[in-house]
Amino acid sequence: MSQSFKTFDISSLNNTQIEAILKSTVAPRPIALVSTVNKDGKVNLSPFSYFSFVSTTPPVLVFSPTLKEGGLEKNTLENLREVPELVINMVNYEIADKMYLTSGEYDKGVDEFVKAELTPEASSVVTPPSVLESPVSFECKVDQIISLGDQEGAGNLVLARILKINISESAMEPSDLPNSSKLDLVGRLGDDYYCKTTPEALFELHKDYNNTTGIGIQSLSQSIRNSNILSQKDLDMLASSASLPDSQKIDRAMNQDEVKELFLEFETERDMIKDGIHKLGKSLIAAGKTEDALATLMIVDQI
Ligand SMILES: Cc1cc2nc3c(=O)[nH]c(=O)nc-3n(C[C@H](O)[C@H](O)[C@H](O)COP(=O)(O)O)c2cc1C
Repeated sequence: MSQSFKTFDISSLNNTQIEAILKSTVAPRPIALVSTVNKDGKVNLSPFSYFSFVSTTPPVLVFSPTLKEGGLEKNTLENLREVPELVINMVNYEIADKMYLTSGEYDKGVDEFVKAELTPEASSVVTPPSVLESPVSFECKVDQIISLGDQEGAGNLVLARILKINISESAMEPSDLPNSSKLDLVGRLGDDYYCKTTPEALFELHKDYNNTTGIGIQSLSQSIRNSNILSQKDLDMLASSASLPDSQKIDRAMNQDEVKELFLEFETERDMIKDGIHKLGKSLIAAGKTEDALATLMIVDQI
């Protein structure tokens, strides 16, 4: 695989170019719709996608309101310096346009809940309200604010300690964990792009989570690595198997009806049998049965 790269020296870029490149390359990013209040109790709601969680013990989220022209602080940051409490509301597809509406540079004191007709819901342990329409909200207090500079564009890392998590019942599984596709969260990319997390957009990596290490691509036999039927992605998935199958497992794979039929049909035509086994292996990988696929594919090394 060969790939050529365009390299940018940071000193050759202006702030707008750096921002545009980072927005499209560090993506997709979750969106924090942050509600705060000032010392007079006036509510503010604004979105921030320079956002993630950075610690589970203690549970801490981080987002970064950058400085405006002239090095001025955004209303959210000013409010947090006055009242160090906030609610971080997650954004689903349903409220994506309303979220966008709240991002306007409104004057301090303008309530973006009203602008976007979002419903403020009283929080249980902090003063700012949460967004009722949001599927998840985190009630937080400010742990620390780390300022990265005094120029326009400089980030201010707001480390927000989570006190309460509210998740819509409609997104909960019986296991008491939220279901990723039911949350329907959106992400922010470059330009004006956003992404959805609908079921067809999601994929699982078929890893054996009981083991933290895979056998690696080098452990796959030549007949598997040189296959015309298996893709590089298939090999990568096989390589995440926890161990090579033992001879009993390969014997069991040999007893699959599909394999017996191949031997009956092609008798001594080894290449035809091999192709049939590789097709079967590929379909087992696609069905998420990686370990069964590996045992099936290793039959070829025994014929
Ligand atoms: C999806 C989205 C993500 C945004 N992310 C950020 C961000 O991470 N940091 C930032 O400073 N501004 C970000 N903005 C812009 C702010 O929302 C905007 O400056 C807003 O007016 C700030 O409001 P405030 O002054 O009331 O705090 C984002 C806007 C949108 C639409």
